[in-house]
Amino acid sequence: MFNLFKKKSKESAKLFYHTDMHCHILPGVDHGSQSVEESLEMLRAEIDMGITHIICTSHVTAETFENTPESLTAAYEVLKQAVKEEGLPVELYVSAEYRIDEYWTKEYEAGHLLPMPGKRILLENSFVQELIGIDNMMFDLQVKGYRPILAHPERYRYYYDRKDRYKALHSASVKFQVNLLSLAGYFGKSAREIALWLIDNNLCDMFGSDMHGMDHANEIQDYLGSREWRKLCDKYDLPKRIINDREFGF
Ligand SMILES: [Fe+2]
Repeated sequence: MFNLFKKKSKESAKLFYHTDMHCHILPGVDHGSQSVEESLEMLRAEIDMGITHIICTSHVTAETFENTPESLTAAYEVLKQAVKEEGLPVELYVSAEYRIDEYWTKEYEAGHLLPMPGKRILLENSFVQELIGIDNMMFDLQVKGYRPILAHPERYRYYYDRKDRYKALHSASVKFQVNLLSLAGYFGKSAREIALWLIDNNLCDMFGSDMHGMDHANEIQDYLGSREWRKLCDKYDLPKRIINDREFGF
């Protein structure tokens, strides 16, 4: 069916914010970008969407991606140099997406972390079950001066019929970052519904692309051109409520 609201080109749909604080664009350190060339292609897609500042948040997970501040910084330096050579209008920062697991515990206890600007830490919950002691850990982090962000809360199924847990964590000063891909339906109907519920309940503080490759970039581009996205931005006054830019001061 002809859609009046479908965007005409990839350049036409821009985000209202300019900071992507969750993506897997660093080359060769997780299952996101696998090469500098792929990273540059993803960065061009981000720029097309209006992004000018990117916090690179590669995975740090036990056994699969046991990255360190050193391994991530090395990949960041390589990409930063390539961005400079290509003259891309984008500023890169390096941090990580920490899965709360045994490797995280070890790194956290050793103070071996790579936080975002403002000592924000992007944390990914287990996808299987809620961790015992997560409330204490979030409290302890804040006592140590870190400021936790929970990555894509809409993707943890064990919270779907325990929405009080969302409210409890958020009330304990844990910021929530919803994935644009979830809104686009990429992770299924339930994740999309919960993402909308979080927005409706004022529990969505930031958006992230969580981009792992160009398939994700294209999915997001299509969604940004949709009538639904524009309606959502208007209905909830998202440019005022979403703190991607304000939070990091870019
Ligand atoms: Fe991620």
